[in-house]
Amino acid sequence: MTSPIAAVTGAGSGIGAAIARELARRGHRVVVTDVDVDAATRVAEEIDGVALGLDVTDPVACDEVVHEIFERFGTLDVWVSNAGISKMQRFLDVSPGDLARTFEVNTYGVFYAGQSVAREMVARGIRGCIVNTASMAAKQGRVPFLSDYVASKFAVLGLTQAMAFELAEHGIRVNSVCPGFVATPMQERELAWEASLRGMEPGAVRQLWINDTPMKRLETPEDVARVVGFLVSEDAAFVTGEAISVNGGAFMD
Ligand SMILES: NC(=O)c1ccc[n+]([C@@H]2O[C@H](COP(=O)([O-])OP(=O)(O)OC[C@H]3O[C@@H](n4cnc5c(N)ncnc54)[C@H](O)[C@@H]3O)[C@@H](O)[C@H]2O)c1
Repeated sequence: MTSPIAAVTGAGSGIGAAIARELARRGHRVVVTDVDVDAATRVAEEIDGVALGLDVTDPVACDEVVHEIFERFGTLDVWVSNAGISKMQRFLDVSPGDLARTFEVNTYGVFYAGQSVAREMVARGIRGCIVNTASMAAKQGRVPFLSDYVASKFAVLGLTQAMAFELAEHGIRVNSVCPGFVATPMQERELAWEASLRGMEPGAVRQLWINDTPMKRLETPEDVARVVGFLVSEDAAFVTGEAISVNGGAFMD
């Protein structure tokens, strides 16, 4: 039997890289995509995958990457829209440019890539899976200094449901995963921002996040990746339109 083909965006770092590794471990051939091609290449080399540059804010590039995957492999079974950005600042200080950039990557990127993938899956009769990386901040706005990010990630949950609803008749499942405080390069940047905005040391902010997590540790990228592995597996064959929290209890809904 040939391996199923999976592609992950923003997979050169953090959670996306862990998802790429987990899907490879579960027997997928993985296409590692990122706007940072060198980072994607490093991850792809580890897992005998394929690296492709992709800026998810460019709908034409999304189409091209999806077509290239079909040309190389003849199929595409799993797509994970994981690329995302954050910049911490007070709501009062967010500029129109910063707001637009956050939405371009976190929301439009998921929309564009989802369209490119779903169009091909529908046209070819592929009963595939799509997972969107949202956030704990997609379910609650009680998050400091991330108002634009919160808005962009709430939108991802609505989009996930709308995609799941329309694509169900084609046998395509669409779900979101909602991580909490995950130790990645994004988190390192947020630690520095939040420390400076609160006038605290980064270590003290890290401890606040741990205190806020009933399971009393920071989340690992692998914690998220294993749940994505479940969502794209046959074990989740009747799960669609869901937003699965993976946060050690930091937010329960
Ligand atoms: N780290 C956390 O605590 C946390 C919590 C909840 C949700 N998330 C979400 O998880 C996802 C991954 O975050 P991470 O912590 O691994 O971040 P990260 O910064 O470590 O990795 C993000 C990757 O996305 C890539 N990227 C950025 N802009 C892109 C674009 N326009 N097109 C394609 N790739 C692009 C970057 O090059 C990078 O490799 C994001 O959607 C983030 O919002 C993270």
